[in-house]
Amino acid sequence: MKYSRRLEGVDYSATIDISDRVKRMKAAGRDVISMAAARPDFDAPAAVRRATSEAVLGGAYSGYSESRGLLELREAVSEHLYRWSGVEYDPESEVLITVGQREGLSLALGALVDPGDPVLVPDPGWLTYRSTVALAGGRPVSFGFCAEDDYRPRVGDLRRGIEGGARVTIINTPANPTGTVFSRSELESIRDLTEQCGATVITDEIYAPFTYDGHRHISPAAIEGMRDRTLVTGAVSKAWAMTGWRVGFAAGPSGLIDRMLMIHQHLVSCACTFAQKGAVVALREEHDTLSSMARSYLARRDILAEGMASLRGIEFNVPRGACFFFPAFPGIGMTGRELATRFLEDGDLALTPGEAFGPGGANRLRISFASTPEEMLPEVLRRMGAVLEGIRDGRD
Ligand SMILES: Cc1ncc(COP(=O)(O)O)c(C=O)c1O
Repeated sequence: MKYSRRLEGVDYSATIDISDRVKRMKAAGRDVISMAAARPDFDAPAAVRRATSEAVLGGAYSGYSESRGLLELREAVSEHLYRWSGVEYDPESEVLITVGQREGLSLALGALVDPGDPVLVPDPGWLTYRSTVALAGGRPVSFGFCAEDDYRPRVGDLRRGIEGGARVTIINTPANPTGTVFSRSELESIRDLTEQCGATVITDEIYAPFTYDGHRHISPAAIEGMRDRTLVTGAVSKAWAMTGWRVGFAAGPSGLIDRMLMIHQHLVSCACTFAQKGAVVALREEHDTLSSMARSYLARRDILAEGMASLRGIEFNVPRGACFFFPAFPGIGMTGRELATRFLEDGDLALTPGEAFGPGGANRLRISFASTPEEMLPEVLRRMGAVLEGIRDGRD
């Protein structure tokens, strides 16, 4: 069989791979704690589950919805984005309901990228960006972050990418895995850089409600002059703990939304109709869920930051947003993959190797606190300390 060459730039998802290993270890009786995936441990809000069940039982939502998505959900998305970023979108023509954030990203790249086109992607960045660019036939070009300076984005890399012909850039704020929350002045620099050539910004704002220490999420679309060159993507997956609903959204200029719709119709027809009914309730009514999850993530972050500060051999930035630490292990001389194997095999602690997030993630590990409750964190810290000590003892 001859397989497509496009797949050469695509990887299996490292987090799904680790989750499968964890399942096998648990089935064999090992007490593994997984901090590999970004799957919230909360339940979807009760009102959302009720609304979804009623939509299923009532029978009226078993068919395809309008391909753009239920109008009431597009209206709810538009209200939500206005509340969070102050940007207005017409639910009729500027909003598309997608199958999770991922589909929105794929559709946008499918609509914007020609074979061989360079696309700027964050490095380290969510592993799906590179693969999705490759699937669209594009060529991922990295822009980096400055680990010594609290993971601020390297705007010079973006400039070089634009000068090298990139006409699409992906921004993720708050960012996975670095916890970077882009500042207004960084976004203004990106606006200035992309303005002349009219480059499009695809922004992934799935972690928007999770920012800490007074840092606030700012959408690139809210920067003056950016709205009509920016596609906002998001989902109910993380913020409302609804990963399995597979409902996301994209909002942007109608010309781009129409072209994405063309692909969406052939690919999936529409997002799951009764799941969309649940998403309406999440977006319209569940504002307290967002703040209580954010409070809980902040408490977890603080416990981990304090505990890790007293461990030897680990260096980290305290994340300003999202739900990840991305530490380095100076002096240990192991790759992220080797470290992840040691933590899993010797410490029963599943973490994601930094290499999965691009070359900029080398020799690091991503620690997700999305799914580990506060009461388990002392045990997590104990296991981390024991593994690091074991590695050091093996060398002395
Ligand atoms: C930055 C980022 N965007 C998007 C997603 C996935 O979103 P969805 O499940 O809605 O497709 C993830 C999942 O880990 C993520 O980390």
